[in-house]
Amino acid sequence: MRIGVLTGGGDCPGLNAVIRAIVRKGIDGYGHAIVGFLDGWRGPLENAYEELTIDSTRGILPRGGTILRSSRTNPFKRGDGPALIAANMRTLNLDGLIAIGGEDTLGCAVRLHAEHDLAVLGVPKTIDNDLGGTDMTFGFDTAVQIATEAIDRLHTTAESHNRVMIVEVMGRHAGWIALHSGLAGGADVILIPEHPFDIEEVVRLIRRRHSRGRFFSIVVVAEGAVPQEGTLQTPGPSAEPAAGGVRDEFGHERLGGIGQLLEREIGQRTGFDTRATVLGHIQRGGTPTAFDRVLATRLGLAAIDAADDGRWGMMPALRGTRIELVPLGDAVAELRTVPAEEYAAAEAFFG
Ligand code: F6P
Repeated sequence: MRIGVLTGGGDCPGLNAVIRAIVRKGIDGYGHAIVGFLDGWRGPLENAYEELTIDSTRGILPRGGTILRSSRTNPFKRGDGPALIAANMRTLNLDGLIAIGGEDTLGCAVRLHAEHDLAVLGVPKTIDNDLGGTDMTFGFDTAVQIATEAIDRLHTTAESHNRVMIVEVMGRHAGWIALHSGLAGGADVILIPEHPFDIEEVVRLIRRRHSRGRFFSIVVVAEGAVPQEGTLQTPGPSAEPAAGGVRDEFGHERLGGIGQLLEREIGQRTGFDTRATVLGHIQRGGTPTAFDRVLATRLGLAAIDAADDGRWGMMPALRGTRIELVPLGDAVAELRTVPAEEYAAAEAFFG
């Protein structure tokens, strides 16, 4: 067989481990050829690819990012997108395509399979950990580890200066990174999109801490966190680049800015010295943790097994401790957000 592979959407530590596993088992185990498309869906749209070999994928296991590069190209943004992909797959004599991605990339994979009958299967990835059908995505553990280390460092300087430190982390509309790094880093307040916050309650918790003799505080806020309606004016996202807003080809606005807002509001309301740190893409860069390397490797092996078996329209997923094949549509049917009880449990440590 000849199998194509691409990585789409935001990059994520562990992508190279998936590619390596697909190539290693695909070539050595099955005798297949593996074609790597470049820059996400741009690759199969524009026939941008390279043949992947065991030699060309040596040494990539601990490397962050993706050797195939990535993009947020949406093939459905152009009318002839699916037909172009089908034509290029035919030209390259491909039997199928493995799309490694998150909500958007896998959403396209689902449609290409269901609506255009293309032989596509998916592998779930994202640092946000917000995909359905799987208990966890690779990249998340690494992002949490990086954010936790940052919180640990901010702790010592916060304590030295009696400061309130705000740490803004990624996660889009899911609070997983904030919740886990906040718990692991011993944050005093954690704010997530699933639970709109009351600024007065945040201020009360910080004041209570001070009144108990702890003169510094750490607030971890997810980039998508929002105040309760009517409690605080936020700038809000905008689709107009001229007005400071940016949307990608899938219509997602660029998030961020809540850290700065909290810095101002908490500083003004408490009179405490307050500083914000935005971790940004540091959370996506660098080497994957051992956990993510192993999870990504297991998913890559399961993906090439599924391709060999012609299980198009499916994706390998982590279910409990096992890797199982689930329908690709499960990944994108619903955003996997933090359940209320998990957030409530973390509240035991607030203030
Ligand atoms: O989905 C992963 C993610 O890192 C989100 O947490 C974040 O909102 C977004 O991607 C940032 O995207 P970009 O790298 O395109 O700015």
